[in-house]
This record gives sequence, structure tokens and C-alpha cells, in this order.
Amino acid sequence: MGDFPDDFLWGVSSSAYQIEGATQVGGRGESIWDRFVTRPGAVVDGSTGAVATGHYERYREDVGLMRELGARVYRFSVSWPRWLPSGRGRPAPAGVDFYERLVDSLLAAGIEPWICLYHWDLPQALQDRGGWTSRDCADYFADYAAAVAGRLGDRVRTFLMLNEPNVHALLGHLTGQHAPGVSDLSAYLAAIHHQNLAVGKGIARLRALDAGFRLGSVVSLQPVLPAAEPGTEPREEDVAAASLADAAYNRASLDPLLLGRYPAAMAGFFEALLRAGDEETMRQRVDLLGVNHYTLQRVRLGRGPLGLELVPPGAGTEATQMGWRVAPEALTRTLLELKSAYGNPPVVITENGAAYEDPPVRNGTVDDASRVAYFARYIRGVAAALEAGCDVRGYLAWTLVDNFEWGDGFTRRFGCVALDRETLERTPKASFHYLRRVFGSGALG
Ligand code: GCO
Repeated sequence: MGDFPDDFLWGVSSSAYQIEGATQVGGRGESIWDRFVTRPGAVVDGSTGAVATGHYERYREDVGLMRELGARVYRFSVSWPRWLPSGRGRPAPAGVDFYERLVDSLLAAGIEPWICLYHWDLPQALQDRGGWTSRDCADYFADYAAAVAGRLGDRVRTFLMLNEPNVHALLGHLTGQHAPGVSDLSAYLAAIHHQNLAVGKGIARLRALDAGFRLGSVVSLQPVLPAAEPGTEPREEDVAAASLADAAYNRASLDPLLLGRYPAAMAGFFEALLRAGDEETMRQRVDLLGVNHYTLQRVRLGRGPLGLELVPPGAGTEATQMGWRVAPEALTRTLLELKSAYGNPPVVITENGAAYEDPPVRNGTVDDASRVAYFARYIRGVAAALEAGCDVRGYLAWTLVDNFEWGDGFTRRFGCVALDRETLERTPKASFHYLRRVFGSGALG
């Protein structure tokens, strides 16, 4: 064995709106992102997901790239409005057919399809009924989840409910930087609570449908420390700010799912929303906890949302093109805390990767040495956690092909495969070849 067990689950992750394109094809309904990108200034380069990487048409080529990469797992999201155009009721046959073909293509390539049922692209028709600010949305989600699992569950055995509910609530409902572009504290808190209910209802519904499903959800976990001048102790108010930020950014979805309660620093915010039985609904046994990890954050008391101000890395601190600190020890620490404070749940890193200014394609590849170094250091951080007894089952890189990075459009590239936006041609980068070596050997290259 190398640094990882022979059955370690290597792979890649993506999301529907960021890669599929074909937003007007096959009866797909409008999503909140289709609506949001029409807002002037919503996306820095004015791009949208209308074409994205053309995955809807090119999925066979992408599956071929995953097979060449040596991926054992592909985590992708189903576009709710492609499956259920109005969010409820009758499925769109062409939408269902697309995901059937994708799943069958993955299985034929020996790749396990893992479905994330929701990755931020709510049907606009449900947003028009309040979206995640409405408690009904949790039930609409459970019905949708049952429809997808009922149709694909003979071939897809792993279902993850939501992607990063906290981030979706924060950016979509408090800062307004993401769809649906709301900036309202009560909307933000309701969006957190109703997504937490959706996760619980979805897991309960699918477990009742088939006890053999591997079920879980995906949380964003980025440790938060108080800002402090070099060589000085942090101010008390900044320590308190970091505790609130950790609760809001990380634990407001993790704790209800694994512990059945909100973190103390935020509990008061949810009193008006909690109803009898909600904590039992939100708390579910997970067969798998998806952890998306990128960076270590620092905050201080300030004028930002919740009175928190994210402090960017200083000049001497290594960071990616997103301005995210490169701190692989924070991933190890995150996994150690899941072991010590949350009962060591079965974890898969469902997203980890980096955006860098890539050099142009030359001699049929892209020499993205910075991304290779990032992957090597973070995968080493996972090995250290495994060594310390953390129950880590797999690592899925974010992401295969450069894609639509939400409000940053196509200005931020996370792929191990370069995308030519004119021709949609794919070109494996040096990081693709690095990951292929690691996935194939289970050893750190
Ligand atoms: C997230 C989302 C992805 C992002 C990726 C890079 O974690 O924000 O799941 O859709 O594209 O993380 O920011």
C-alpha cells in the first residue's frame, strides 16, 4: 500500500450549472442562476452558464477523461429544474434521459456515479414561492430527491443531499453575491434552517426508499481564526468574531446534521424558526459526510455581514487566485476535529482544489505547476489525517474541467483540464497527469 488504502475512493466533482450548458434544452425549467446572471454586474466577466463547458453534449468525452484520470468516483449534481422544470410534479423526459445516459456511461467506464441532489440551482418557479425562505421548500426537495432516487437508484447507490447549505444561504440570501441575490438577515437564517430540514427529510425519505443507499450531505468546512498582528495576541472581540464566523460558516449545517442542534454562538438566531420535532428531523445518521475544504480563514469584528470582516491574506502569505490561503495543515486539523468532536464520521473530501492563473496551452498541455503543488500538499494533509485515525474514505478533486465559477465567471480556473471557451476543446493539464499518478498508485507522487 502507498500512502492510501487500496480501496480509497479517488475522483472528481462538479456541479450542473457550472458545467452543463444547454439551459434551454429538453424542457429544462429556469433556475435562479439563469435569472441571477441577467443582473448587470452579477458576474465579473458577464459570462453565464448558458454554454458553460458544453457537458450536456460532451459528457461522453468527459467520462473518457475521468477514466483516463483513473477516477473511481464522479460526484455531480442533478439540475433540479432540468429534472422537474417547475420544481414539482411531472419530470421532463429529456432531462431524466440525460442523467440516465450520463449514469450508464459512467458505469460502463467503471466509475461510480455519486449524485449531489442540489448544488444551488433552485427552480425559479420555487423561488417565486419563497424558495429556501419557505419551509415548504424542504418538502419539495424531499419529493424531488425521491423522484431522482426512485428512477436512478438501481444504478446510483450514493446520494448526497445538498452542497454547502451555509455558503448558499450566506452568499445567496445575506450578501446577495449569488443567486437568488437576496440581502436580508431573516431570509438568510430561514434559508439555513429550511435547507437543514431538507437534508434531514431527504435522507429519511431515501433511507425509507432503499436501506441500501449510501446517504449523506456536503458541508463546507473552512477553519476560522481571529485576525491578529504578527507576534501579537488577537483582540478579545476578534476571538468572539471568529467563534461566530465558525458557527455561521461551518457549524450551522454540520451540527444540526450530526448533533441535532445549532452551535451555541448562533442558537438564539434560530429560536423563532425552530418547531417541535425539527431537531429530530435535522439529525440523521450519515453513511458519508462530504467535506468541501479549500482554505483557512481569518476574521475580525467589522462592518461585514453579521458584523464579521474576512481578513485577506497578507503580502507574505501564500494564497491562490481566489485570495484563499494555502494552508494544508488546516485540512488535517478539520479532519482531526471531526474525529474528536463529531464521533469520527465516514468522510470523503468532496471538493478540494485551487484557482491559479494558468499558462497557455503549449505542446498539448498546460504547465500548472502551482496547482500540482497545491494538490500534492493537500493530499499529503489527508494522508496525515488518515495516519492519525480519521475515517477518511476518499478524495474528490475540484474539478475536472475549468468551468463557470459563479460570480467570478470564467476568470477563475479550478480544472485539471483546460477549456478552450471558443471551441470547448479539453486539454489535460500537468495536474491531470499528477492526479492520474496518485489515483493509480495510491501513493503521493
Ligand atoms: C463551492 C462550490 C463550488 C465552487 C468551488 C470553487 O464550494 O463554492 O461547491 O461550486 O465552484 O468550491 O469555489
